[in-house]
Amino acid sequence: YSLEHLRTLVAVLDEGTFDAAAVRLHVTASAVSQRIKAMEEATGQLLVQRTNPARATAAGESVARYAREVDLLGKDLRRDLGEDGQEQATYSIAVAVNADSLATWFLPALATAHERFGAIFDVHRDDEEYTVSLLRSGTVMAAVTAAEQAVQGCTSSLLGVMRYKAVASPAFLSRWNPRGDLADLDRIPVVDFDRKDELQRDFVRTATGREPSGPRHLIPTSADFARSIVLGLGWGLLPEQQADAHLRAGALVELAPKHPVDVRLYWQRWNLASPLLDGLTHVVREAAAARLRR
Ligand code: ARG
Repeated sequence: YSLEHLRTLVAVLDEGTFDAAAVRLHVTASAVSQRIKAMEEATGQLLVQRTNPARATAAGESVARYAREVDLLGKDLRRDLGEDGQEQATYSIAVAVNADSLATWFLPALATAHERFGAIFDVHRDDEEYTVSLLRSGTVMAAVTAAEQAVQGCTSSLLGVMRYKAVASPAFLSRWNPRGDLADLDRIPVVDFDRKDELQRDFVRTATGREPSGPRHLIPTSADFARSIVLGLGWGLLPEQQADAHLRAGALVELAPKHPVDVRLYWQRWNLASPLLDGLTHVVREAAAARLRR
């Protein structure tokens, strides 16, 4: 495939439609469609499912991953040749990260990487139990994940431990847990992040031996999740980075100080000799070492 073809495939998958890919590439939508068709004819397989948004077929995922690798190597080469300044970002470094990391320790690492290497980012947010599937599909080249086992073609290393504390507001507790014994933890209002968030459910199981059966709110952004607990919508597990200031101020109370929940986070990245990806890995590890537990 030509570079132009590879870029076109990635643009279609990133942007979701042939039209949006055309805008990004400054060509017509029919040029985009012709290039994709030419690639499919050369491959003898369908690469793009014409859904809305467009998705890669299994073959398309393999080609897309190859395309992103070629692009990354091209960026590395241009840096080597000192063409930094005039490099026109073709596409950005796609990374996957969980919301709580993004909200607490991860963003400063991206800022450092942007400052040092001029890296441009396309961040995919997903639950830490699911970010590896974005690696597997070749959608991202690196991910913060709870999965230690390296995805094929990737390396995995421990970043550190994110500690969660079960908390609620004093007003919430005096209404729903007046005896202070957490006996009804499975039946009082809880805040979950989204339908993939198992932290509160696991905590209830361990604490009461029962499945949660009470009302639950779903608040799917990290800072608002924390705020909703401070506001008394329900109880929930907050990263210590978000909880501690509120605990000190008395705006939150810890439900089980002896039983924090520790989530081990790993960095998985494509196993590809790339100074850009190495540089990103370095700053991510630094940020994690500064803000996560060992
Ligand atoms: N694991 C999800 C994420 O970080 C949501 C976490 C839910 N947060 C919580 N404190 N229960 O993207």
